Amino acid sequence: MSEEATLLREGRLRERAQTRFYRRLAGDAELAGDLAAAERLNDLLADEQHHVSRLTARLLEMGEAPGESAGAQEGRGLEGWEEEARRREADEIGWYEDALKRVPDGPTRSILREILVSERHHYEQLAGKWMPAAPQGSEDDGR
Ligand SMILES: [Fe+2]
Repeated sequence: MSEEATLLREGRLRERAQTRFYRRLAGDAELAGDLAAAERLNDLLADEQHHVSRLTARLLEMGEAPGESAGAQEGRGLEGWEEEARRREADEIGWYEDALKRVPDGPTRSILREILVSERHHYEQLAGKWMPAAPQGSEDDGR
C-alpha cells in the first residue's frame, strides 16, 4: 500500500472516532434536554461523517480498501465536552497540516485541504455544517 493510502486510512479511522465522539455527545445532550447543544453536536457529527465519506471515496478511487476499526466508545459524557472537543479538533488540525506536507498528489491534497478548513471552523466555534454535501471542484483535481 502506498504511503498516501496509509495516510488516508489513518485519517479515516481518526474521523470515524470523531463521529463516535460527537454521536455519543449528541445523544447525551438530547437525553438531557439540552437542545441547543444537541443541534451543535449533530452538526459537528454531520461534518465528521462527510470527512469519513470524502476519505473513503478517495481510497476507493485509488483502488484501496478503506479498512475497518473496532470502534471503541469515545468520550465521557456532556460535562466538559467543549474542552475535550476543542482538544480533539486541535489534534485533527495538526494531523491534516502534517498530512498535507506528505501528500503531493492533487486530488488527495484537495480533499485534505477542504477537510482542514472545516476542522479549523470546528476548533474555533465548536459548531458544524462546514462541509458541503458534495465534493468541491478545485484547481488541482483535474476536472
Ligand atoms: Fe473531521
